[in-house]
Amino acid sequence: MAKSKRSWEQRLTGETDELTLDFVESLSRDKRLYKYDIAASIAHARMLAEVGLITKSEFSEIQKALFEISDEITAGRFKFDRTCEDIHMAIEAALIKKTGDVGAKLHTGRSRNDQVATDMRLWMRDRIEILQTRISLLQRDFVKLAAKYTEAVMPAYTHLQRAQPVVIGSYLLSFVEQLSRDYQRLKNCSELLNVCPLGCGAVAGSTLPLDRKSTARQLGFEGIAWNSIDAAGDRDFCAEFIFDCAIIAVHLSRLAEDWIIYSSAEFDFIRIDDKYCTGSSMMPQKRNPDVLELIRAKTGSVYGALVAMLTILKAQPSTYNRDLQEDKIHVFSASDTIEAALEIAAAIVSHTKFNTKQIAAGLDTGFLDATSLAEYLVKKGVPFRKAHVIVGQLVTTCEQQAKSRLSDLTLDQFKAACDQIEDDVYNCLGATNVAKKYTTLGAAGPDHLARQIAYWKDQLKEQ
Ligand code: ARG
Repeated sequence: MAKSKRSWEQRLTGETDELTLDFVESLSRDKRLYKYDIAASIAHARMLAEVGLITKSEFSEIQKALFEISDEITAGRFKFDRTCEDIHMAIEAALIKKTGDVGAKLHTGRSRNDQVATDMRLWMRDRIEILQTRISLLQRDFVKLAAKYTEAVMPAYTHLQRAQPVVIGSYLLSFVEQLSRDYQRLKNCSELLNVCPLGCGAVAGSTLPLDRKSTARQLGFEGIAWNSIDAAGDRDFCAEFIFDCAIIAVHLSRLAEDWIIYSSAEFDFIRIDDKYCTGSSMMPQKRNPDVLELIRAKTGSVYGALVAMLTILKAQPSTYNRDLQEDKIHVFSASDTIEAALEIAAAIVSHTKFNTKQIAAGLDTGFLDATSLAEYLVKKGVPFRKAHVIVGQLVTTCEQQAKSRLSDLTLDQFKAACDQIEDDVYNCLGATNVAKKYTTLGAAGPDHLARQIAYWKDQLKEQ
């Protein structure tokens, strides 16, 4: 029950209430920043030595002690004292305990405001690389799966109604495209955040001759934040990072939704490996896609984080306010959620099989070749709008005569609907046949798919 008074709070009367200690602490969460905090402290100390504010040997002593502290935290030997509000105070207190007055020089020209802003950027830069790697791995699994289904056709749905035939591989590559935008979005975020706030101090910079470019360089930043007032309170990158996570969550949720539907008995398009299904406590026959359902649900958690972050930022007075401490809860939560979701999504993708026989058996339902027939008429000189009406009527005829396929109609029936139709009409019918005939760039047929698989294989080698 230590009610110690912190060194920077000597001007306050009496002791800090226990309730306050618990309420304001962020140590329980920002512990995970320790490596970045130590890296930033070493860079700051080296710079202090470079400009003569501490001696070279003082720097060495500080650096050595900080390395020891880092090792202690990594090994789980470090005793976190809850009276140290956050990781910055905990590390500095340990440093002063080890080195006395030398360590007491570290905070020269620095505030926790520029410190935490720097740590968060360093943390996020690394975290983005990890998420990008997870994205690439998932993309690779999609490409591998797509390469197994380069000919087999499935129905594409719009409005969840049968629309047009597509090769299964093209459907799978649609997720690779989405993920590549996610990758790029994170790259943009990483580039935008890559400026160093260290040296901005609490809000106004310092009267000391700090070399901000040196610390920025040492920490691998592209440059420095040029306005100390802005830098102290800028958390745009946090909101942006969570937004990027939210879009990843959207993409994963759409995959999850598709595959939950596809794995139902009504569709029976795919079989997800038992490893990623669960049973029911009551119904012995069940094989539930719980993992996919949870991936879908995680979107809600990430949206929550995004709304929280944006709300925390809204209408804060300029510069640093303690509100900003709350950023970590939401940034960490969004990042952890998405990392785990990407990992398990990759596991599922690499362990899922398409039931091509079952899918093929159902391809004659839904008049998937109707658009192809309309385009056949266009090639015969019929204006598209007229062709659309003609084919619509032919579909109605089929339904009235209990024919499931347009190819069940006789040539006479075709000719009665439009005299430009000839006996080559049957070549443009049939789902698999149609898919083979797609010619446009980006189309969902085997030709374009083969090129796209080659493209992604090559692309993902580098990424
Ligand atoms: N724990 C704080 C945070 O995460 C560090 C900065 C506190 N600065 C202050 N002046 N109270 O934002």
